[in-house]
Amino acid sequence: PETGCLSIIVLGASGDLAKKKTFPALFNLYRQGFLQSNEVHIFGYARTKISDDELRNRIRGYLINDKSAPGQSEQVSEFLQLIKYVSGSYDTEEGFQLLDKEISAHESSKNSLEGSSRRLFYFALPPSVYPSVSRMIKKCCMNRSDLGGWTRIVVEKPFGKDLDSSEKLSAQIGELFEEPQIYRIDHYLGKELVQNLLVLRFANRMFLPLWNRDNIDNVQIVFREDFGTEGRGGYFDEYGIIRDIIQNHLLQVLCLVAMEKPVSLKPEHIRDEKVKVCSSISTPNQREEVVLGQYDGYRDDPTVPDHSNTPTFATAVLRIHNERWEGVPFILKAGKALNSRKAEIRVQFKDVPGDIFKCKKQGRNEFVIRLQPSEAMYMKLTVKQPGLEMSTAQSELDLSYRQRYQGVTIPEAYERLILDTIRGDQQHFVRRDELKAAWEIFTPLLHRIDDGEMKPLPYNPGSRGPAEADELLSKVGYVQTHGY
Ligand code: BG6
Repeated sequence: PETGCLSIIVLGASGDLAKKKTFPALFNLYRQGFLQSNEVHIFGYARTKISDDELRNRIRGYLINDKSAPGQSEQVSEFLQLIKYVSGSYDTEEGFQLLDKEISAHESSKNSLEGSSRRLFYFALPPSVYPSVSRMIKKCCMNRSDLGGWTRIVVEKPFGKDLDSSEKLSAQIGELFEEPQIYRIDHYLGKELVQNLLVLRFANRMFLPLWNRDNIDNVQIVFREDFGTEGRGGYFDEYGIIRDIIQNHLLQVLCLVAMEKPVSLKPEHIRDEKVKVCSSISTPNQREEVVLGQYDGYRDDPTVPDHSNTPTFATAVLRIHNERWEGVPFILKAGKALNSRKAEIRVQFKDVPGDIFKCKKQGRNEFVIRLQPSEAMYMKLTVKQPGLEMSTAQSELDLSYRQRYQGVTIPEAYERLILDTIRGDQQHFVRRDELKAAWEIFTPLLHRIDDGEMKPLPYNPGSRGPAEADELLSKVGYVQTHGY
């Protein structure tokens, strides 16, 4: 690993994302020894005029996740001492010059360390300020150490609202930073079972011959939340569930499920394959294979317009036009205010040809990968019902992580991804051409929704979403199975 002075700058330090995700992830890395206090310094930057201690106090409550763990509160205090706060605007040089001065002072105080200076800028900011903040960093805050090192930026969706706006944003940032300096986070790529997908598919002989249109009938990638847009209605209403979840998180998962085997595990090889599969997907057939919903009560939020047409639920069937997947529906489904909180991949196999047991009613083989909660993988199988009679039943081969990996802590997505940015590993980050391919799929549909040509159906909060979505699933071939 690289050594030398590391400065992590959290821009938008007083905001929600920073408090809830960025600082806790940094704390966890610190706690586990990945951020050494003799080389790292963390800077918070935002417009609010507060002191170092005020920032520390705002963050403190979000850091401890296990109050019973011995020594945590001392670790929290040590960690907070690494944080310094600088206030300034996002579009003038003054604040960024001051920030640069602080970073440089830290670097010279640590220059007894052999090695280079590393500057990591984490944008916990609304995307509207990405271009100006990128310009200011480029102008005032780049690493200038003779000993080498780097400057990297970490940005998070929403990257634009459609293909054009996203391309514009990419071009603006791309003029200032090289692609290897830009880390586009999609936190689903940091989840344990998402990271397991490549291993599962390419390190297990049993899946290789089955993973195709000859054997797989349909694939579902599902995200459900059992709460609404509480407190985020204003943001959410501008984007909707397709831009918030489907175009990024679920599509990224789809790419890993459907892509061809990469030449190697090099980030560029993996991302090349993701782009290829993404480019083979056609825009969903909007009349036949998309169902939109909006939960009752969504518009009661004072920050949501009374006549909002924004979907809080969507099911869309994607079609991949290549040799492996032609004809297999990939059903992406996401919704807020549903009956449960769950994210899972369901790979449903075709019926057995020439079934001598006449057991179709028992259901098909289905391989389920539950990303959350309680990570698990299970395979639904038909077995002989134990007993004297020859009858069949559906059962599961079950790998529940909680049981199998007792005592192993599964890292938070952000923790893992921030560590990757420090290590310079872009495998789990979205490349510019991937982002473009993703927007190409959804932009025509999004424009129709924005223009009011497609209306969401109402559904009850706490339900499964509109019944039409279940009908669509059956229409494209999904067979509801028993058991889990
Ligand atoms: C975010 C979305 O990207 O992901 C939120 O903006 C959503 O609307 C969240 O709640 C879900 O993340 P997770 O990790 O809880 O599934």
